Amino acid sequence: MEFLSLIVFLLSTSMANSDHLQQSIILQCLSNHSVASPSIASVTYFPADPSYTSTLQSYIRNLRFISPTTPHPLFIVAPSHVSHIQASIFCCKTHGFEMRIRSGGHDYDGLSYVSESPFMILDLFNLRSVSVNIEDGNGTAWVDSGATLGELFYAIGQKSKTHGFPAGVCPTVGVGGHFSGGGYGNMMRKHGLSVDNVVDAKLVDVGGNILDRESMGEDLFWAIRGGGGASFGVILSWKIKLVSVPEIVTVFRIEKNLEQGETDIVHQWQYIADKIDENLFIRVVLLPVNKKHLQSIKAKFIGLFLGNAEELISVMNQNFPELGLLPENCFETSWIESVLFWSNYPIGTSMEVLLDRQPQPEKYLKKKSDYVQEPISKENLKGIWKKMIELKRPALTLNPYGGKMSEIQESETPFPHRAGNIYKIQYSVTWKDEGNEALDRSLDQIRKIYDYMTPYISKSPRSSYLNYRDVDIGINENGNASYSEAAIWGRKYFKDNFDRLVQVKSKVDPGNFFRYEQSIPCLESWKSVMAE
Ligand SMILES: Cc1cc2nc3c(=O)[nH]c(=O)nc-3n(C[C@H](O)[C@H](O)[C@H](O)COP(=O)(O)OP(=O)(O)OC[C@H]3O[C@@H](n4cnc5c(N)ncnc54)[C@H](O)[C@@H]3O)c2cc1C
Ligand SMILES: *[C@@H]1O[C@H](CO)[C@@H](O)[C@H](O)[C@H]1NC(C)=O
Ligand SMILES: *[C@@H]1O[C@H](CO)[C@@H](O)[C@H](O)[C@H]1NC(C)=O
Ligand SMILES: *[C@@H]1O[C@H](CO)[C@@H](O)[C@H](O)[C@H]1NC(C)=O
Repeated sequence: MEFLSLIVFLLSTSMANSDHLQQSIILQCLSNHSVASPSIASVTYFPADPSYTSTLQSYIRNLRFISPTTPHPLFIVAPSHVSHIQASIFCCKTHGFEMRIRSGGHDYDGLSYVSESPFMILDLFNLRSVSVNIEDGNGTAWVDSGATLGELFYAIGQKSKTHGFPAGVCPTVGVGGHFSGGGYGNMMRKHGLSVDNVVDAKLVDVGGNILDRESMGEDLFWAIRGGGGASFGVILSWKIKLVSVPEIVTVFRIEKNLEQGETDIVHQWQYIADKIDENLFIRVVLLPVNKKHLQSIKAKFIGLFLGNAEELISVMNQNFPELGLLPENCFETSWIESVLFWSNYPIGTSMEVLLDRQPQPEKYLKKKSDYVQEPISKENLKGIWKKMIELKRPALTLNPYGGKMSEIQESETPFPHRAGNIYKIQYSVTWKDEGNEALDRSLDQIRKIYDYMTPYISKSPRSSYLNYRDVDIGINENGNASYSEAAIWGRKYFKDNFDRLVQVKSKVDPGNFFRYEQSIPCLESWKSVMAE
């Protein structure tokens, strides 16, 4: 007994000592390669530090990856100076650690803060300044990757009532991941994606060089606008072109159930949603209703119109009378207030909530995506309702395309889902219980609805949206990770743009330092994989 506990004691102290040794070597390396002030030691967190856990968990947006069995980083650096980023890259290379880059932490599958290999997190929350310049051309801004969309929108709203920016509808999403994966929101039919409005960027490459658009060249600048930033470098900041928005915009939210002709209305929506006035964006959210005596599906129609209510009613009467939009359903607001409405804040909520970086309690979640290119028939919609009711939970969010999205060539940015797509579907399951039973049940539900949808969505490839990260799609239909995994998810996310992404990657990061489960492969490893 005594002997055993002595061994345990010796073992644990030697482990603590070697941890301590490793920690001081890492800190020395980081300090030696960055400025003395602000010191990198003050923004570096090791597991023994009191604020390590809160720093790690602050930007975890999916409770699945907060469990005791989730691999955690050896340390976290939250750079407050660009040299902290350069030093982190250098020391990770020297010591063979993987680097995970995190901005807002919204990656659905946690790839910005979880790895199976020894890794550290470069967490960008200290780098989040936004500077809006209304006088530059028609208005521009430089925004750091660590800022949230809410902070960006707020800064624009403070400077002007007639400028906005097309980006996601959830204010806590980070600029870094969002822009580098495309970035869509309710102005995309009028103004395209976030990346369609990015005009410059600053990035730290694998050699620690700080590059802008001119010095990185057009290939790399192309790749980071939708190809996923974390394959290519650490993106510090983005220069964006603001868009002009009317002083008054109109929002609405209408619910329909089966008795109110929901099926016909959703069916009809498919014929107008991508063709109607590009100032109008109507999202549909389909939700299973699971009450004891009522098992049904309800449809929520949520709209943004870049114009006043009178014009909106006239557009709707001409194109989509089936929805029955009435003046009393419409709210006229400023653009910045419409952002709050779309994030489910009551009308009149103070704009300061946009600065709140962690407002909602988190959930367990899994999401998947699809593109629809042919309207789904009423009969088939009914079949989908039946399947959703049977499975109980998956919710479907339909986002219309068309307008500006169809005018941009597939190859203009890595994001290829342009003309020919009527709408995108997001499948979503969220749950509250920890443990494997709820997890397995939920994953099973979302995979079943995804399988069920196969006949109705885009084919060869069945496409997916990169920002709706889905680690399942690299696994082939037999359920095994095939050797050419990257080719499978690469085509789904990027279609033919995948080849150019591989070329850029091979040129700018031939040693594949910037890697993760779905990073773009280098040509050499790619060739050897193809030869297998
Ligand atoms: C509640 C919620 C709502 C959403 N709504 C929308 C929406 O309306 N529209 C939409 O398009 N998407 C939406 N998304 C998806 C969102 O755009 C993506 O999850 C996006 O990647 C999140 O960016 P992030 O910085 O918060 O995530 P992170 O998890 O920090 O990063 C995501 C990926 O980008 C990499 N990355 C992050 N920062 C950098 C950087 N500076 N340099 C290089 N690589 C970097 C990460 O390593 C990771 O691979 C939503 C997600 C959530 C959870
Ligand atoms: C850091 O610099 C000091 C002083 O120049 C040197 O003695 C030490 O070996 C360096 N350590 C690392 C890990 O680079
Ligand atoms: C400003 O907007 C006008 C009208 O949309 C456009 O023609 C012009 O090119 C824009 N100028 C700049 C510098 O972007
Ligand atoms: C994995 O998939 C391949 C087809 O791509 C198949 O030949 C192989 O048998 C599968 N392996 C297993 C273990 O199912």
